[in-house]
Amino acid sequence: MSEHAAPREAPRTASGPAPWTARVLTLFPEMFPGPLGLSLAGKALERGIWALDVLDIRDFARDKHRAVDDAPFGGGAGMVMRPDVLDAALAAAKARAAKGSGRATAPVIYLSPRGRLLDRALARELARGPGAILLCGRYEGVDERVLEAHGIAELSIGDYVLSGGEPAALVLIDAVVRLLPGVMGNHESPAEESFERGLLEYPHYTRPAEWQGRKVPEVLVSGHHEKVRKWRQAQAERITEQRRPDLWARYVKDRDDEGPDR
Ligand code: ADE
Repeated sequence: MSEHAAPREAPRTASGPAPWTARVLTLFPEMFPGPLGLSLAGKALERGIWALDVLDIRDFARDKHRAVDDAPFGGGAGMVMRPDVLDAALAAAKARAAKGSGRATAPVIYLSPRGRLLDRALARELARGPGAILLCGRYEGVDERVLEAHGIAELSIGDYVLSGGEPAALVLIDAVVRLLPGVMGNHESPAEESFERGLLEYPHYTRPAEWQGRKVPEVLVSGHHEKVRKWRQAQAERITEQRRPDLWARYVKDRDDEGPDR
């Protein structure tokens, strides 16, 4: 096996535990951190609030061609990623995770359109843990046995097919990292965001107060905080009911279950 690249991890401070760590197994390590090196996630990465450890799956190929895939048993189009290669890569990622954290073990997740759909609850659940080991597939997918052997959960970011798991891993990491303590400033608290209260977000406006003949809603310039709050609530409810009947039904049920004191 060839030498592995040094992990691109934030240095651990002598005092605290390791930060939330995304360990990504991929055939395209150059894709990381990609867009996550910029903006909010990038700043948090620099500040050591989270860490990224990228493993190149090809480094774990054993034959002289460094093959990571092979034809599917039973025939058919495409190639399947080999279980022995993935097993070696996963073992290395798990060993690094065990060294990096005295806390609970990080879940292993395979990004796949067959998986559980990523939502706010799952992002929160992951943010509470020590990190995640993210397996990115290419080709037709990975050998099923390696998923069974490592007890790997599958996760999808939507009902469409990407050409690989990498963009999905970037989406997942972004959704989780912004929930980590210290990543968002107080003024950009997630409490008001879409989904956080089971509703989509109300509309936003800024200066100029009139633009191309369109005025900002009167209530927002009234300075009346309670009226603004009620208007935003009503707008969030209207938009959710119109656009997402599924969320709206759940919201109404939860509200009714909570009773009249709400
Ligand atoms: N890999 C390919 N398509 C995907 C999707 N929709 N979600 C997660 N991983 C994927």
